[in-house]
Amino acid sequence: MKTAVCPGSFDPVTKGHLDIITRASRLFDRVIVLVVTNAAKTPSFTKEERMSLIRRVTGDLLNVEVETYSGLLADYVRDVGAVAIVKGLRAVSDFEYEFQMALANKKLNPEADTLFLTTAAENMYLSSSIVKQIAQFGGDISDFLPEQIVREVKNRLCP
Ligand code: PNS
Repeated sequence: MKTAVCPGSFDPVTKGHLDIITRASRLFDRVIVLVVTNAAKTPSFTKEERMSLIRRVTGDLLNVEVETYSGLLADYVRDVGAVAIVKGLRAVSDFEYEFQMALANKKLNPEADTLFLTTAAENMYLSSSIVKQIAQFGGDISDFLPEQIVREVKNRLCP
């Protein structure tokens, strides 16, 4: 059984993330969506909230699980015996940082490879931080999020 881990901040999960998770679930037997800490970001949602939002939008993907971990991604990947870390790549601007992380993770855990899925064209510009900025200024975020979570994210960001 081939397991892949889709790591991220998911603060909150967007249509872009869901597209990558869905495509990974077709490529691997088991996909673990892992909510991890990005030391460079201050999240707006707690890890529990982020996991709950991801669970709601991935409910129909039967080989997808949602977990969290507070240590190194490479250690988690080794512990669960995953063969791949799957990430979405939006634009050239993402590449240098993602490439650096992929190399570091390979050094820390040579058993796993990082696999990049190119984002769908309609999600090229999409990021959790863009969604949060739009919501905080009262803009419409319904096109950017899976519909099951639009209301909750709006209420939470712009009460
Ligand atoms: O969605 P993001 O914030 O771009 O994802 C980055 C993330 C969270 C995957 C990365 O920061 C990470 O792997 N954090 C876990 C801690 C870790 O292993 N850091 C070293 C990465 S080389």
